[in-house]
Amino acid sequence: MAEEVEDAVVIDYADIPNWGQSTVVGHAGKLVYGTLSGRKVLALQGRFHFYEGNPLEVVTFPVRVMKALGCEGVVVTNAAGGIGFGPGTLMAITDHINMTGQNPLIGENLDDFGPRFPDMSKAYTPEYRETAHKVADKLGIKLDDGVYIGVTGPTYETPAEIRAFKTLGADAVGMSTVPEVIIAAHSGLKVLGISCITNFAAGFQEELNHEEVVEVTERVKGDFKGLLKAILAELSLFLSFQLRTMREISLLYQPGGRRIWPARMFSFTQKASIRMLSGSWSPLFRSVMKSSIVEDLGSTGANTQKRPIQRPLTTNKSSRCRITVC
Ligand code: HPA
Repeated sequence: MAEEVEDAVVIDYADIPNWGQSTVVGHAGKLVYGTLSGRKVLALQGRFHFYEGNPLEVVTFPVRVMKALGCEGVVVTNAAGGIGFGPGTLMAITDHINMTGQNPLIGENLDDFGPRFPDMSKAYTPEYRETAHKVADKLGIKLDDGVYIGVTGPTYETPAEIRAFKTLGADAVGMSTVPEVIIAAHSGLKVLGISCITNFAAGFQEELNHEEVVEVTERVKGDFKGLLKAILAELSLFLSFQLRTMREISLLYQPGGRRIWPARMFSFTQKASIRMLSGSWSPLFRSVMKSSIVEDLGSTGANTQKRPIQRPLTTNKSSRCRITVC
């Protein structure tokens, strides 16, 4: 998807401080900002998985950055094994079961983002899902509903685990999404989650392999992309994303004018806090802010002036977009 973003500003993950690095071959590792289906979007080309050894702070960090930048909603996609559903099915996630034994919110609560005990009753925004179904119907694309159960991986599940998950009420199983959605829900981001079922889960087919997952993903890609783009155009009814200016961010996250926000935002350990406190605003914000339609030019923030969107920083080509935020 990310290669279809227009007027793209592309930032390598390597250039963003405290951002994870993609380890999966074929995942570009770029943050792309631009326009898709008439909406301003931030797209992640390459996401971070817990099974790669990334701490959950790293896995979920992009979601917090996107929230801080002014995003209101997140579209999360994944490949998943079907517990009942077969390969090629597209499934709108109605809810999830966190089977990872982890929670990214463990530790100090970042009150600027959300409450200590967030409600997860509607983590997957019903209005978004409704819109997704309407769009899918219009396009003649079959979209099912189901519950996603998140595991850490990297092993696929045993047949006994899948039987247990079925009893628990899961319709699909995968190794991502749950941590990101918990962080999104914490900070009040609306969420649309869609799973692409790439295989029958363990026990429902003879054996599992990654090649099948890739092959089915490739096969479904056209429909999936078409659906997502059409949904994005419709979701615009609910969204008004414009990148926040630096001043807006600082006002929002620095009540009382204390310059503590970058530290709290960019780090979750004391060590990293100190590093950030001693630094200035990150290059990410400077780069992305340059592309903002309305840029706050005054150091005091008193005056705002209109500026055109900048040209791309680098050529925007390559692989899959795993999360789109709008
Ligand atoms: N299990 C877990 N994750 C997956 C699967 C699966 O069967 N298929 C694709 N991602």
